[in-house]
Amino acid sequence: MGFPKDFLWGGATSANQIEGAYLEDGKGLTTADMMVLSKHGQKREITKTIQEEKYYPTHEAVDFYHRYEEDIALYAEMGFKVYRMSVAWSRIFPNGDDQEVNQAGLDFYDKVINLCLSYNIEPLVTLQHFDTPMGLQKYGFWENRKVVDFYVRYCTVLLKHFKGRVKYWLTFNEINNMSTMPWNAGGISLDASEEVKMKAAYHQLLASAKVVKLAHQISDENKVGMMYNGHFSYPSSPHPDDILGNEDFQQQMLFYAEVQARGKYPNYKLKDLARNNIVLPIQKGDLEELQEGKVDFISFSYYLTHVCGAKTKGIIKGLNGLETGYKNRFLKQSDWGWSIDPQGLRFALNQLFNRFQLPLMIVENGLGAEDKLVDGKIIDDYRIEYLNNHLVEVKKAIEIDGVPVMGYTAWGPIDLIAASTGEMSKRYGFVYVDLDDNGNGTKQRIRKKSFYWYQKVIETNGENLVEEMQYNG
Ligand code: BG6
Repeated sequence: MGFPKDFLWGGATSANQIEGAYLEDGKGLTTADMMVLSKHGQKREITKTIQEEKYYPTHEAVDFYHRYEEDIALYAEMGFKVYRMSVAWSRIFPNGDDQEVNQAGLDFYDKVINLCLSYNIEPLVTLQHFDTPMGLQKYGFWENRKVVDFYVRYCTVLLKHFKGRVKYWLTFNEINNMSTMPWNAGGISLDASEEVKMKAAYHQLLASAKVVKLAHQISDENKVGMMYNGHFSYPSSPHPDDILGNEDFQQQMLFYAEVQARGKYPNYKLKDLARNNIVLPIQKGDLEELQEGKVDFISFSYYLTHVCGAKTKGIIKGLNGLETGYKNRFLKQSDWGWSIDPQGLRFALNQLFNRFQLPLMIVENGLGAEDKLVDGKIIDDYRIEYLNNHLVEVKKAIEIDGVPVMGYTAWGPIDLIAASTGEMSKRYGFVYVDLDDNGNGTKQRIRKKSFYWYQKVIETNGENLVEEMQYNG
């Protein structure tokens, strides 16, 4: 009963949202470095060059690059069993296509990973999380097949270097974001045609399969997962048109997982591509590579659920404000307009497991909220309520539905830069960072109330969770 004994409890971050030091020790510019701060729900401006007068939040971020020892010690204090982190490709190969490895970049991740291991924290490494090197722009980023080889070369370096130290890998963060946030996913412009997006997605799917195969060849201890942006949705009504509209949305998102888990494009996607006159740039041997590079597990992010229906058919807009045309009147929303749906997580776990029959891992979940520092303390009961209620549903999926869940990494265990807006005030952490939206502050770390709560969750393996916790603040 309850969570398995070896359940991997922990937290998740990405390099560009925490590290800062954006040009230090030889690191090159990335797509994330070109994104300017925006406000509540607005799209972020992406500049072609760095402009002095603009504020780019990831350039300094929360300075994990210089403070990783303190931060990892805090993770250890909470009892983390796993830490999901990403490696910045541009620290290893500053331009993405370099011939030589940037040793200083590799040294940094050596220190981070060795420190985790010294605390018995298992590293789970995402190989690309929203930060394609800008040096690949001259090729057209992921639209160009050459980038597949550059990525494989970069991954090979890491797989060999960390052999025996890192066993869990994710190839691309939220690979289905190529449809919704293509700049973040792979340097593809937001207004690119469907054809360009599908070409870039194909290259990433192929690159992922190659890396899965390679990881298995390098060490049979390696387990490689796909990472799905959890766009789970309910039909807006029982009307068959709405059911099919919802199914259409699901297919547009889930086909990425189908390719990574089953090693081939599903029929519905092949038909859809053909209808739109899109020809995938398949070369000899590719289909075999896709087949041989199936993932070992499925990981996903879960923040909210959507409602979709007839009106949604064919519409995929930018994620932030992924306007499906419907609202769920049964659910409350966060301050950033994201629906709060703990039961939806149980539904998501069932949907993914029943479809793919692979072990699952929740690698992102959390509440982005403003915190108030009062008398040196942050009493974030709203966050505790959100996380508690979601974890209760994970427990039910395990206990009642028999879904194999490997672990759970809460998003942003330490406050970090929001990906959608660049804001600092959209905080997810158990640890507060003294930094505001414009980069002012001491960057001092302060444990929030949720820090001690999560510590207890891990210590008791989820026994302290309570059914339908309600915070009345
Ligand atoms: C996921 C990303 O989509 O959502 C993270 O993998 C991101 O990088 C997270 O931070 C939450 O979104 P936001 O915009 O609140 O940071």
